[in-house]
Amino acid sequence: MRKKVDFLVIGTGIAGLSYALKVAEHGSVCIVTKAVMDETATRYAQGGIAAVMYHPDTYEKHIRDTLIAGDGLNNEKIVRITITESTERIKELIAWGAEFDRTSTGKYDLGKEGGHSEYRVLHHKDNTGFEIQRALISQIAAHPNIEVLEHTFALDIITQHHLGEEVTRHRNDIECYGAYVLEIPTNTIHTILAKTTMIATGGAGNVYAVTTNPTVATGDGIAMIYRAKGIIENMEFIQFHPTALYNPGEKPSFLITEALRGFGAVLKNAEGEEFMHKYDKRLSLAPRDIVARAIDNELKLSGSEFVYLDCRHLDKNELITGFPTIYAKCLSIGIDITRDMIPVVPAAHYTCGGIKVDEYARSSITRLYASGECASTGLHGANRLASNSLLESVVFSHRAFVDAIEKIKTVEFREDVPEWNAEGMVLNEEMILITQSLKDLQSIMSSYVGIVRSNLRLKRALDRLEILYRETEDLYNKSILTVKLCELRNMINVAYLIIKMAQQRKESRGLHYSLDYPEANAGKNGNKIGN
Ligand code: FAD
Ligand code: SIN
Repeated sequence: MRKKVDFLVIGTGIAGLSYALKVAEHGSVCIVTKAVMDETATRYAQGGIAAVMYHPDTYEKHIRDTLIAGDGLNNEKIVRITITESTERIKELIAWGAEFDRTSTGKYDLGKEGGHSEYRVLHHKDNTGFEIQRALISQIAAHPNIEVLEHTFALDIITQHHLGEEVTRHRNDIECYGAYVLEIPTNTIHTILAKTTMIATGGAGNVYAVTTNPTVATGDGIAMIYRAKGIIENMEFIQFHPTALYNPGEKPSFLITEALRGFGAVLKNAEGEEFMHKYDKRLSLAPRDIVARAIDNELKLSGSEFVYLDCRHLDKNELITGFPTIYAKCLSIGIDITRDMIPVVPAAHYTCGGIKVDEYARSSITRLYASGECASTGLHGANRLASNSLLESVVFSHRAFVDAIEKIKTVEFREDVPEWNAEGMVLNEEMILITQSLKDLQSIMSSYVGIVRSNLRLKRALDRLEILYRETEDLYNKSILTVKLCELRNMINVAYLIIKMAQQRKESRGLHYSLDYPEANAGKNGNKIGN
């Protein structure tokens, strides 16, 4: 199949769908997703979406909280844009049908999470993402200009490289003409030519053994753009959520929202004693990097495999009505959160860095936008403030829309793009080569590139990754492509970027903590690979 569209969108989370709905008023749209439309990180978001809604909150307060969490590495201009446009974008989500909880007076019932100085998190019980995804999908389904291709895996974006030109990182005129995609059920590779392409492929939590991310979060977009010689930045800043449910063997890990701590739940060690006062005066509601590191330290001191989150002192009815998903999930494994403490551990949760974009979500490659978790706008700096990511997605998808509808007026389809060449490839019948390499990768990243790092650990990680890289490239170059093989290759690519950027950062900063640089340093620039 060879298809031509004005707007190609890769990914069906909040970033891809909110963008698609807007551009669809101006041309033809094709959205591809490697799974079904609602299998996204967006769907699992619990706590909510941060936005300034009422007095006493102000844009300045939200801006300040975001900058403090980001540990001096945020781009302040981008922070101001995001926060001051938050209220408008929330109104749009509501107009599309997303419902957020209200108090008895009719005002939105705003929650609080770590690092926020005010109540400003709009939520729908403890399943906000599910509600937003539901509303967006119902709008998408009704739109005549939008075609959705499920079970369609984007392999690579198309650039001059595919037309036989040499494309290096030193070129600043790289263009994107669409993407090669694999129709999974038939194992056929198609060419989608597009005037503009939006990458909204989400994060990369599956690079680690324990993650809250759904299995689709394998960093494909980031790897694709790195291969296409686009600029990637700040990959060392991987956010570990402090409180994933400790339930060995369950993948992905079930999240226990930070909003529960905002509601009054308290962290306790294996002996049932509070410990956060040893680490930060904001206690259980300190920013995530601090809480995750504190838990990591407590686990190392005690030798325990988890700490506890204690809700037993909270109002039972409010707890069950406000957090029904968590209540039901815990009960299903024998934990009654009104009577028992919840065992929790940190888990890889959010990729702060990614494809570098500007204030209109434009990547370093012309005709190519990126939004959502795969993008690096400069909003989060060295550590994302809770519930700022859904917000970032809608703000930058909107800004990409503003730019893209002008862009398509001046660009033409590139007709001379060849079909994907799959000649000579053979079926790899040994799945074990892929599954074992994935386990090895996750183990390397969790052991050496987790919450606490050191120069020696990073070097060891890179040395071991090198072997996996060579073996996987070898397999990729001779095999008929499968999703599992491509995802593994992408995750190795992303792991490489995390390790390299961590090695380049000669300081402890935000989410990147190194034993070799225990004192936090005040540097100015983020970390880039690609220019
Ligand atoms: P996603 O929603 O992850 O969507 C990515 C899409 O890309 C999927 O459709 C996927 O199938 C597709 N895709 C990926 N690779 C390919 C490929 N190669 N080809 C085709 N399709 C592909 N943030 C908040 O602000 N508030 C919260 O309360 C919150 N809670 C969270 C709870 C959990 C458990 C998790 C995991 C995250 C949470 N986050 C939260 C983070 C937030 O949910 C994500 O950052 C955000 O939803 C990302 O949206 P996205 O559109 O960028 O990507
Ligand atoms: C949570 O609900 O704790 C997750 C919020 C987020 O990741 O922003």
